[in-house]
Amino acid sequence: MKSIALEVEDASPSGIAGAIARLITSGDLAPGDRLPTVRELAADLGVSPATVSHAWQALASVGLIVSRGRSGSFVRAAPSTWLPPRSRNLAGQPGARLDLSTGTPDPALLPNLGPALSRVSSRAGTSSYLDSPVLPELEAMLRESWPYPVDAITVVDGALDAISRALDLLLRYGDRVVVENPGFPPIFDLLEHYGIEKIAVGIDEEGMLPRELSAALTRSPAVIVLQPRSQNPAGVSMTEERAKELARVIRSSRTAQKTIVIEDDHSGEISTKPQVSLGTYLPERVLHVRSFSKSHGPDLRIGALGGPTELVDRIVARRLLGPGWTSRMLQTILYDLMTDASTVAAIDVARVTYGQRQHALSAALAAAGVCTRVPDGVNLWLPVDDERAAVVQLAAAGIRVAAGTAFLAAQAPAGGRRPAAADDGGAAVSELTRGGQFIRVTAGLVRDDFASVGALLAASTRA
Ligand SMILES: Cc1ncc(COP(=O)(O)O)c(C=O)c1O
Repeated sequence: MKSIALEVEDASPSGIAGAIARLITSGDLAPGDRLPTVRELAADLGVSPATVSHAWQALASVGLIVSRGRSGSFVRAAPSTWLPPRSRNLAGQPGARLDLSTGTPDPALLPNLGPALSRVSSRAGTSSYLDSPVLPELEAMLRESWPYPVDAITVVDGALDAISRALDLLLRYGDRVVVENPGFPPIFDLLEHYGIEKIAVGIDEEGMLPRELSAALTRSPAVIVLQPRSQNPAGVSMTEERAKELARVIRSSRTAQKTIVIEDDHSGEISTKPQVSLGTYLPERVLHVRSFSKSHGPDLRIGALGGPTELVDRIVARRLLGPGWTSRMLQTILYDLMTDASTVAAIDVARVTYGQRQHALSAALAAAGVCTRVPDGVNLWLPVDDERAAVVQLAAAGIRVAAGTAFLAAQAPAGGRRPAAADDGGAAVSELTRGGQFIRVTAGLVRDDFASVGALLAASTRA
Protein backbone atom coordinates (compact mmCIF):
# COMPACT_ATOMS: atom_id res chain seq x y z
CA MET A 1 0.00 0.00 0.00
CA LYS A 2 1.27 3.49 -0.80
CA SER A 3 2.04 5.68 2.20
CA ILE A 4 -1.07 7.73 2.76
CA ALA A 5 0.86 10.69 4.15
CA LEU A 6 2.95 10.88 0.96
CA GLU A 7 -0.20 11.08 -1.15
CA VAL A 8 -1.60 14.08 0.73
CA GLU A 9 -0.67 17.32 -1.02
CA ASP A 10 -3.11 19.54 0.84
CA ALA A 11 -3.35 18.76 4.57
CA SER A 12 -6.82 20.29 5.04
CA PRO A 13 -9.78 17.98 5.86
CA SER A 14 -11.01 18.00 2.23
CA GLY A 15 -7.44 17.60 0.91
CA ILE A 16 -6.82 14.56 3.11
CA ALA A 17 -10.24 13.09 2.30
CA GLY A 18 -9.64 13.67 -1.43
CA ALA A 19 -6.26 11.89 -1.29
CA ILE A 20 -7.79 8.86 0.43
CA ALA A 21 -10.70 8.83 -2.04
CA ARG A 22 -8.23 8.78 -4.94
CA LEU A 23 -6.34 5.88 -3.37
CA ILE A 24 -9.63 3.98 -3.09
CA THR A 25 -10.51 4.78 -6.71
CA SER A 26 -7.12 3.64 -7.95
CA GLY A 27 -7.34 0.41 -5.96
CA ASP A 28 -4.27 1.22 -3.81
CA LEU A 29 -6.68 1.03 -0.89
CA ALA A 30 -8.99 -1.97 -1.18
CA PRO A 31 -12.28 -2.77 0.58
CA GLY A 32 -11.50 -3.96 4.10
CA ASP A 33 -8.10 -2.18 4.33
CA ARG A 34 -7.53 -0.59 7.69
CA LEU A 35 -6.68 3.10 7.67
CA PRO A 36 -4.06 4.56 10.02
CA THR A 37 -5.44 5.94 13.25
CA VAL A 38 -6.32 9.60 13.41
CA ARG A 39 -3.37 10.25 15.72
CA GLU A 40 -0.87 8.38 13.54
CA LEU A 41 -1.83 10.24 10.38
CA ALA A 42 -2.07 13.58 12.20
CA ALA A 43 1.49 13.08 13.47
CA ASP A 44 2.76 12.05 10.01
CA LEU A 45 1.18 15.11 8.41
CA GLY A 46 1.95 17.54 11.23
CA VAL A 47 -1.70 18.55 11.63
CA SER A 48 -4.13 18.35 14.54
CA PRO A 49 -6.08 15.12 15.12
CA ALA A 50 -9.27 17.16 14.60
CA THR A 51 -8.23 17.85 10.99
CA VAL A 52 -7.83 14.15 10.22
CA SER A 53 -10.98 13.36 12.13
CA HIS A 54 -12.94 15.78 9.89
CA ALA A 55 -11.50 14.06 6.82
CA TRP A 56 -12.56 10.66 8.22
CA GLN A 57 -16.09 12.01 8.84
CA ALA A 58 -16.30 13.28 5.26
CA LEU A 59 -15.22 9.92 3.86
CA ALA A 60 -17.66 8.07 6.13
CA SER A 61 -20.52 10.35 5.12
CA VAL A 62 -20.03 9.52 1.44
CA GLY A 63 -19.80 5.83 2.22
CA LEU A 64 -16.13 5.31 1.36
CA ILE A 65 -14.96 4.27 4.82
CA VAL A 66 -16.58 2.86 7.90
CA SER A 67 -15.57 3.25 11.53
CA ARG A 68 -15.54 0.13 13.70
CA GLY A 69 -14.97 1.88 17.04
CA ARG A 70 -11.75 0.84 18.73
CA SER A 71 -10.74 -1.45 15.87
CA GLY A 72 -10.26 1.63 13.69
CA SER A 73 -11.57 2.86 10.33
CA PHE A 74 -11.72 0.66 7.24
CA VAL A 75 -12.31 1.06 3.53
CA ARG A 76 -15.91 0.10 3.05
CA ALA A 77 -16.83 -3.12 1.27
CA ALA A 78 -19.58 -3.04 -1.38
CA PRO A 79 -22.59 -1.82 0.59
CA SER A 80 -26.19 -2.94 0.85
CA THR A 81 -26.58 -5.70 -1.71
CA TRP A 82 -30.36 -5.51 -1.43
CA LEU A 83 -30.22 -2.15 -3.22
CA PRO A 84 -30.20 -1.95 -7.03
CA PRO A 85 -26.58 -1.54 -8.22
CA ARG A 86 -26.72 2.17 -9.12
CA SER A 87 -28.42 3.06 -5.85
CA ARG A 88 -25.79 1.53 -3.58
CA ASN A 89 -23.59 4.60 -3.41
CA LEU A 90 -26.63 6.83 -2.98
CA ALA A 91 -27.98 5.10 0.12
CA GLY A 92 -28.12 7.46 3.08
CA GLN A 93 -25.13 7.54 5.39
CA PRO A 94 -25.33 9.06 8.83
CA GLY A 95 -23.36 12.15 9.63
CA ALA A 96 -24.26 14.76 7.04
CA ARG A 97 -25.48 18.10 8.38
CA LEU A 98 -27.50 18.54 5.21
CA ASP A 99 -28.34 15.48 3.08
CA LEU A 100 -29.06 16.68 -0.48
CA SER A 101 -28.34 13.30 -2.07
CA THR A 102 -31.75 11.67 -1.89
CA GLY A 103 -33.93 13.17 -4.66
CA THR A 104 -36.86 12.93 -2.25
CA PRO A 105 -39.44 15.55 -1.25
CA ASP A 106 -39.14 17.61 1.93
CA PRO A 107 -41.18 15.77 4.58
CA ALA A 108 -42.29 19.18 5.93
CA LEU A 109 -43.97 19.92 2.57
CA LEU A 110 -45.94 16.68 2.35
CA PRO A 111 -49.64 16.89 3.21
CA ASN A 112 -50.95 15.84 6.60
CA LEU A 113 -52.40 12.34 6.25
CA GLY A 114 -54.27 12.38 9.57
CA PRO A 115 -57.71 13.56 8.40
CA ALA A 116 -57.63 11.27 5.32
CA LEU A 117 -56.63 8.28 7.46
CA SER A 118 -59.48 8.95 9.85
CA ARG A 119 -61.93 8.73 6.97
CA VAL A 120 -60.78 5.26 5.90
CA SER A 121 -63.29 2.71 7.11
CA SER A 122 -62.25 1.07 10.35
CA ARG A 123 -62.43 -2.43 8.86
CA ALA A 124 -60.72 -3.63 5.71
CA GLY A 125 -63.16 -4.05 2.82
CA THR A 126 -64.40 -7.47 1.78
CA SER A 127 -64.58 -6.78 -1.92
CA SER A 128 -64.24 -9.70 -4.26
CA TYR A 129 -60.93 -10.49 -5.90
CA LEU A 130 -62.70 -9.85 -9.17
CA ASP A 131 -64.03 -6.34 -8.48
CA SER A 132 -62.66 -3.46 -10.54
CA PRO A 133 -59.12 -2.84 -9.23
CA VAL A 134 -59.62 0.94 -9.29
CA LEU A 135 -62.07 2.95 -7.16
CA PRO A 136 -64.52 4.45 -9.68
CA GLU A 137 -64.43 7.93 -8.15
CA LEU A 138 -60.60 7.95 -8.21
CA GLU A 139 -60.56 6.75 -11.81
CA ALA A 140 -62.98 9.52 -12.83
CA MET A 141 -60.78 12.09 -11.17
CA LEU A 142 -57.62 10.75 -12.79
CA ARG A 143 -59.27 10.77 -16.20
CA GLU A 144 -60.34 14.37 -15.74
CA SER A 145 -56.81 15.45 -14.84
CA TRP A 146 -55.01 13.24 -17.40
CA PRO A 147 -53.05 15.29 -19.97
CA TYR A 148 -55.04 13.79 -22.89
CA PRO A 149 -58.21 11.70 -23.35
CA VAL A 150 -56.92 8.25 -22.48
CA ASP A 151 -58.42 4.83 -23.22
CA ALA A 152 -57.75 3.05 -19.93
CA ILE A 153 -56.39 3.95 -16.52
CA THR A 154 -55.31 1.82 -13.62
CA VAL A 155 -53.78 2.47 -10.21
CA VAL A 156 -50.41 0.95 -9.32
CA ASP A 157 -47.87 0.98 -6.48
CA GLY A 158 -45.88 3.98 -7.71
CA ALA A 159 -44.25 5.04 -10.96
CA LEU A 160 -41.52 2.43 -10.84
CA ASP A 161 -44.09 -0.33 -10.38
CA ALA A 162 -45.91 0.95 -13.47
CA ILE A 163 -42.72 1.15 -15.52
CA SER A 164 -41.36 -2.24 -14.49
CA ARG A 165 -44.71 -3.91 -15.24
CA ALA A 166 -44.93 -2.19 -18.60
CA LEU A 167 -41.37 -3.25 -19.46
CA ASP A 168 -42.16 -6.78 -18.32
CA LEU A 169 -44.99 -6.85 -20.81
CA LEU A 170 -43.22 -5.17 -23.69
CA LEU A 171 -39.63 -6.42 -23.65
CA ARG A 172 -37.86 -9.54 -24.77
CA TYR A 173 -34.23 -10.39 -24.00
CA GLY A 174 -31.94 -8.51 -26.37
CA ASP A 175 -34.45 -5.78 -27.19
CA ARG A 176 -33.32 -2.18 -27.30
CA VAL A 177 -34.74 0.68 -25.27
CA VAL A 178 -34.19 4.40 -25.73
CA VAL A 179 -33.39 6.19 -22.48
CA GLU A 180 -32.66 9.78 -21.64
CA ASN A 181 -29.07 10.75 -20.94
CA PRO A 182 -28.78 11.75 -18.15
CA GLY A 183 -31.59 9.69 -16.67
CA PHE A 184 -32.97 7.91 -13.62
CA PRO A 185 -30.54 5.17 -12.40
CA PRO A 186 -33.18 2.57 -11.40
CA ILE A 187 -34.42 2.57 -15.00
CA PHE A 188 -30.92 1.66 -16.17
CA ASP A 189 -30.73 -1.07 -13.52
CA LEU A 190 -34.12 -2.37 -14.57
CA LEU A 191 -33.04 -2.56 -18.22
CA GLU A 192 -29.86 -4.38 -17.25
CA HIS A 193 -31.99 -6.79 -15.25
CA TYR A 194 -34.00 -7.56 -18.40
CA GLY A 195 -30.87 -7.96 -20.54
CA ILE A 196 -31.78 -4.93 -22.58
CA GLU A 197 -29.48 -2.79 -24.67
CA LYS A 198 -30.02 0.85 -23.87
CA ILE A 199 -29.71 3.55 -26.49
CA ALA A 200 -28.81 6.83 -24.83
CA VAL A 201 -30.45 9.95 -26.24
CA GLY A 202 -29.42 13.40 -25.03
CA ILE A 203 -31.80 16.02 -23.68
CA ASP A 204 -31.78 19.80 -23.63
CA GLU A 205 -33.92 22.44 -21.92
CA GLU A 206 -37.00 21.30 -23.86
CA GLY A 207 -36.71 17.54 -23.56
CA MET A 208 -35.31 14.70 -25.64
CA LEU A 209 -33.31 15.82 -28.69
CA PRO A 210 -35.31 15.04 -31.85
CA ARG A 211 -32.27 14.41 -34.05
CA GLU A 212 -30.73 11.98 -31.60
CA LEU A 213 -34.07 10.25 -31.14
CA SER A 214 -34.44 9.97 -34.89
CA ALA A 215 -31.03 8.30 -35.14
CA ALA A 216 -31.87 5.98 -32.22
CA LEU A 217 -35.12 4.90 -33.88
CA THR A 218 -33.22 3.46 -36.83
CA ARG A 219 -32.21 0.70 -34.40
CA SER A 220 -35.85 -0.35 -33.89
CA PRO A 221 -36.14 0.10 -30.13
CA ALA A 222 -39.06 -1.69 -28.48
CA VAL A 223 -39.60 1.13 -26.00
CA ILE A 224 -38.69 4.77 -25.35
CA VAL A 225 -38.65 5.84 -21.69
CA LEU A 226 -38.76 9.56 -21.00
CA GLN A 227 -39.69 11.95 -18.22
CA PRO A 228 -41.99 14.73 -19.42
CA ARG A 229 -41.50 17.04 -16.43
CA SER A 230 -38.88 17.92 -13.80
CA GLN A 231 -36.53 15.45 -15.40
CA ASN A 232 -34.47 13.64 -12.79
CA PRO A 233 -31.60 14.58 -12.61
CA ALA A 234 -31.55 17.50 -15.07
CA GLY A 235 -34.63 19.41 -13.88
CA VAL A 236 -35.88 20.16 -17.42
CA SER A 237 -39.50 19.89 -18.54
CA MET A 238 -40.62 19.05 -22.06
CA THR A 239 -42.30 21.83 -24.04
CA GLU A 240 -45.46 21.28 -26.08
CA GLU A 241 -43.51 22.08 -29.24
CA ARG A 242 -40.92 19.44 -28.44
CA ALA A 243 -43.60 16.84 -27.64
CA LYS A 244 -45.18 17.52 -31.03
CA GLU A 245 -41.80 17.24 -32.76
CA LEU A 246 -40.87 13.99 -30.99
CA ALA A 247 -44.26 12.51 -31.87
CA ARG A 248 -43.67 13.48 -35.51
CA VAL A 249 -40.23 11.84 -35.44
CA ILE A 250 -41.67 8.64 -33.97
CA ARG A 251 -44.64 8.51 -36.34
CA SER A 252 -42.50 9.04 -39.40
CA SER A 253 -39.85 6.46 -38.48
CA ARG A 254 -40.27 3.31 -40.56
CA THR A 255 -38.10 1.32 -38.15
CA ALA A 256 -40.14 2.29 -35.08
CA GLN A 257 -43.66 1.39 -36.14
CA LYS A 258 -44.15 -0.74 -33.04
CA THR A 259 -42.18 1.33 -30.55
CA ILE A 260 -44.08 2.17 -27.36
CA VAL A 261 -43.39 5.34 -25.37
CA ILE A 262 -43.43 5.16 -21.56
CA GLU A 263 -43.73 8.58 -19.96
CA ASP A 264 -42.69 8.83 -16.33
CA ASP A 265 -44.33 11.92 -14.81
CA HIS A 266 -42.65 11.17 -11.49
CA SER A 267 -42.85 14.71 -10.12
CA GLY A 268 -46.57 15.06 -10.87
CA GLU A 269 -48.16 17.87 -8.95
CA ILE A 270 -44.99 19.45 -7.62
CA SER A 271 -43.83 20.36 -11.13
CA THR A 272 -44.20 24.06 -11.90
CA LYS A 273 -44.69 23.32 -15.59
CA PRO A 274 -47.93 22.26 -17.32
CA GLN A 275 -48.54 18.61 -18.17
CA VAL A 276 -47.22 17.71 -21.61
CA SER A 277 -47.61 14.27 -23.14
CA LEU A 278 -46.82 12.53 -26.40
CA GLY A 279 -50.14 10.79 -25.74
CA THR A 280 -51.84 13.89 -27.16
CA TYR A 281 -50.38 12.96 -30.54
CA LEU A 282 -49.81 9.21 -30.31
CA PRO A 283 -52.46 7.91 -27.86
CA GLU A 284 -52.24 4.39 -29.26
CA ARG A 285 -48.48 4.20 -28.56
CA VAL A 286 -48.11 5.93 -25.18
CA LEU A 287 -48.23 4.61 -21.62
CA HIS A 288 -48.33 7.66 -19.38
CA VAL A 289 -47.39 7.21 -15.72
CA ARG A 290 -48.13 9.62 -12.88
CA SER A 291 -46.58 9.29 -9.45
CA PHE A 292 -47.92 10.79 -6.26
CA SER A 293 -44.67 10.17 -4.38
CA LYS A 294 -43.20 13.67 -4.67
CA SER A 295 -46.48 15.46 -4.00
CA HIS A 296 -48.26 13.21 -1.49
CA GLY A 297 -45.41 11.11 -0.09
CA PRO A 298 -43.17 8.27 -1.35
CA ASP A 299 -44.42 5.91 1.34
CA LEU A 300 -47.99 6.02 0.04
CA ARG A 301 -46.59 3.88 -2.81
CA ILE A 302 -49.24 4.91 -5.25
CA GLY A 303 -49.26 5.95 -8.89
CA ALA A 304 -51.45 5.78 -11.96
CA LEU A 305 -50.91 4.32 -15.40
CA GLY A 306 -52.93 5.21 -18.48
CA GLY A 307 -52.76 4.07 -22.08
CA PRO A 308 -54.32 1.88 -24.74
CA THR A 309 -56.84 -0.56 -23.24
CA GLU A 310 -55.09 -3.57 -24.72
CA LEU A 311 -51.81 -2.81 -22.92
CA VAL A 312 -53.28 -1.55 -19.65
CA ASP A 313 -55.63 -4.54 -19.35
CA ARG A 314 -52.77 -6.96 -19.80
CA ILE A 315 -50.85 -5.23 -17.02
CA VAL A 316 -53.92 -5.32 -14.76
CA ALA A 317 -54.44 -9.03 -15.49
CA ARG A 318 -50.81 -9.83 -14.73
CA ARG A 319 -50.98 -7.92 -11.44
CA LEU A 320 -54.04 -9.92 -10.44
CA LEU A 321 -51.76 -12.96 -10.40
CA GLY A 322 -49.44 -11.26 -7.92
CA PRO A 323 -50.20 -8.40 -5.56
CA GLY A 324 -53.73 -8.29 -7.02
CA TRP A 325 -54.43 -4.58 -6.92
CA THR A 326 -53.35 -1.45 -5.08
CA SER A 327 -55.17 -1.57 -1.76
CA ARG A 328 -58.48 0.25 -1.90
CA MET A 329 -57.63 1.70 1.50
CA LEU A 330 -54.71 3.51 -0.10
CA GLN A 331 -56.86 4.52 -3.05
CA THR A 332 -59.43 5.93 -0.63
CA ILE A 333 -56.72 7.94 1.09
CA LEU A 334 -55.42 9.28 -2.22
CA TYR A 335 -58.90 10.20 -3.38
CA ASP A 336 -59.53 11.97 -0.10
CA LEU A 337 -56.25 13.87 -0.39
CA MET A 338 -57.02 14.87 -3.98
CA THR A 339 -60.45 16.23 -3.11
CA ASP A 340 -59.71 17.85 0.25
CA ALA A 341 -59.31 21.62 -0.18
CA SER A 342 -56.66 22.03 2.52
CA THR A 343 -54.54 19.22 1.04
CA VAL A 344 -54.83 20.68 -2.45
CA ALA A 345 -53.72 24.03 -1.00
CA ALA A 346 -50.80 22.36 0.85
CA ILE A 347 -49.57 20.82 -2.39
CA ASP A 348 -49.83 24.20 -4.11
CA VAL A 349 -47.67 25.62 -1.33
CA ALA A 350 -45.17 22.77 -1.75
CA ARG A 351 -44.90 23.42 -5.50
CA VAL A 352 -44.34 27.15 -5.00
CA THR A 353 -41.87 26.54 -2.18
CA TYR A 354 -39.75 24.15 -4.27
CA GLY A 355 -39.76 26.76 -7.04
CA GLN A 356 -38.62 29.46 -4.60
CA ARG A 357 -35.88 27.25 -3.19
CA GLN A 358 -34.61 26.47 -6.68
CA HIS A 359 -34.55 30.18 -7.53
CA ALA A 360 -32.80 31.09 -4.28
CA LEU A 361 -30.13 28.40 -4.71
CA SER A 362 -29.53 29.28 -8.38
CA ALA A 363 -29.17 32.95 -7.37
CA ALA A 364 -26.70 32.01 -4.63
CA LEU A 365 -24.70 29.92 -7.10
CA ALA A 366 -24.70 32.80 -9.59
CA ALA A 367 -23.46 35.14 -6.86
CA ALA A 368 -20.59 32.68 -6.32
CA GLY A 369 -19.78 32.67 -10.03
CA VAL A 370 -21.65 29.55 -11.22
CA CYS A 371 -24.54 30.24 -13.57
CA THR A 372 -27.22 27.59 -13.91
CA ARG A 373 -30.66 27.43 -15.42
CA VAL A 374 -33.31 27.36 -12.68
CA PRO A 375 -34.48 23.72 -12.62
CA ASP A 376 -38.04 22.43 -12.27
CA GLY A 377 -38.75 19.95 -9.47
CA VAL A 378 -36.52 19.09 -6.52
CA ASN A 379 -33.17 18.42 -8.22
CA LEU A 380 -30.27 20.48 -9.53
CA TRP A 381 -27.76 18.94 -11.97
CA LEU A 382 -24.44 20.65 -11.55
CA PRO A 383 -21.41 20.20 -13.84
CA VAL A 384 -18.20 19.90 -11.83
CA ASP A 385 -14.52 19.53 -12.66
CA ASP A 386 -14.17 16.32 -10.68
CA GLU A 387 -17.21 14.47 -9.39
CA ARG A 388 -15.57 12.55 -6.60
CA ALA A 389 -13.58 15.55 -5.37
CA ALA A 390 -16.79 17.62 -5.34
CA VAL A 391 -18.68 14.98 -3.35
CA VAL A 392 -15.86 14.60 -0.85
CA GLN A 393 -15.29 18.36 -0.46
CA LEU A 394 -18.98 18.94 0.19
CA ALA A 395 -19.07 16.03 2.64
CA ALA A 396 -16.19 17.66 4.53
CA ALA A 397 -18.45 20.70 4.87
CA GLY A 398 -21.32 18.49 6.09
CA ILE A 399 -23.31 18.41 2.82
CA ARG A 400 -24.08 15.14 1.10
CA VAL A 401 -24.88 15.12 -2.63
CA ALA A 402 -25.17 12.35 -5.22
CA ALA A 403 -22.29 11.71 -7.61
CA GLY A 404 -23.43 12.12 -11.21
CA THR A 405 -22.02 8.94 -12.77
CA ALA A 406 -24.97 6.74 -11.85
CA PHE A 407 -27.27 9.06 -13.81
CA LEU A 408 -25.31 8.83 -17.05
CA ALA A 409 -26.71 6.31 -19.51
CA ALA A 410 -23.57 6.68 -21.55
CA GLN A 411 -20.48 7.11 -19.46
CA ALA A 412 -17.51 9.34 -20.18
CA PRO A 413 -14.19 7.51 -20.25
CA ALA A 414 -12.72 7.17 -16.75
CA GLY A 415 -10.82 10.20 -15.59
CA GLY A 416 -11.51 12.33 -18.63
CA ARG A 417 -13.52 15.51 -19.08
CA ARG A 418 -14.44 14.27 -22.53
CA PRO A 419 -17.83 14.19 -24.17
CA ALA A 420 -19.82 11.18 -23.06
CA ALA A 421 -19.98 8.43 -25.67
CA ALA A 422 -22.86 5.99 -25.66
CA ASP A 423 -21.82 2.72 -24.02
CA ASP A 424 -23.82 0.76 -26.48
CA GLY A 425 -24.03 2.61 -29.72
CA GLY A 426 -24.71 6.12 -30.88
CA ALA A 427 -23.09 9.20 -29.37
CA ALA A 428 -25.39 10.99 -27.00
CA VAL A 429 -23.86 14.29 -26.05
CA SER A 430 -25.86 17.29 -25.03
CA GLU A 431 -24.93 20.19 -22.78
CA LEU A 432 -26.40 18.17 -19.94
CA THR A 433 -23.85 15.38 -20.30
CA ARG A 434 -20.90 17.19 -21.87
CA GLY A 435 -17.83 16.86 -19.68
CA GLY A 436 -19.14 13.76 -17.98
CA GLN A 437 -18.65 15.01 -14.41
CA PHE A 438 -21.67 16.11 -12.40
CA ILE A 439 -23.30 16.10 -9.02
CA ARG A 440 -27.02 15.90 -8.39
CA VAL A 441 -28.16 18.18 -5.61
CA THR A 442 -31.65 17.89 -4.15
CA ALA A 443 -32.14 21.64 -4.01
CA GLY A 444 -35.73 21.18 -2.87
CA LEU A 445 -34.42 20.10 0.54
CA VAL A 446 -32.51 23.37 1.15
CA ARG A 447 -34.75 25.33 3.48
CA ASP A 448 -32.54 28.30 4.34
CA ASP A 449 -28.95 29.50 4.37
CA PHE A 450 -28.96 29.59 0.55
CA ALA A 451 -25.93 31.88 0.31
CA SER A 452 -23.61 29.56 2.22
CA VAL A 453 -24.94 26.35 0.60
CA GLY A 454 -24.64 28.04 -2.83
CA ALA A 455 -21.07 29.15 -2.08
CA LEU A 456 -20.06 25.63 -0.96
CA LEU A 457 -21.65 24.09 -4.05
CA ALA A 458 -19.94 26.64 -6.30
CA ALA A 459 -16.57 25.89 -4.67
CA SER A 460 -17.15 22.16 -5.15
CA THR A 461 -17.51 22.61 -8.91
CA ARG A 462 -13.82 23.53 -8.96
CA ALA A 463 -12.69 20.94 -6.40
C1 LIG B 1 -37.63 9.74 -12.56
C2 LIG B 1 -38.25 8.97 -11.47
N1 LIG B 1 -39.06 7.96 -11.77
C3 LIG B 1 -39.65 7.22 -10.81
C4 LIG B 1 -39.44 7.50 -9.49
C5 LIG B 1 -40.09 6.65 -8.47
O1 LIG B 1 -41.42 7.02 -8.30
P1 LIG B 1 -42.38 6.15 -7.40
O2 LIG B 1 -42.06 6.47 -5.98
O3 LIG B 1 -43.74 6.62 -7.78
O4 LIG B 1 -42.16 4.72 -7.74
C6 LIG B 1 -38.61 8.55 -9.12
C7 LIG B 1 -38.37 8.86 -7.70
O5 LIG B 1 -37.61 9.71 -7.35
C8 LIG B 1 -38.01 9.30 -10.14
O6 LIG B 1 -37.19 10.32 -9.86
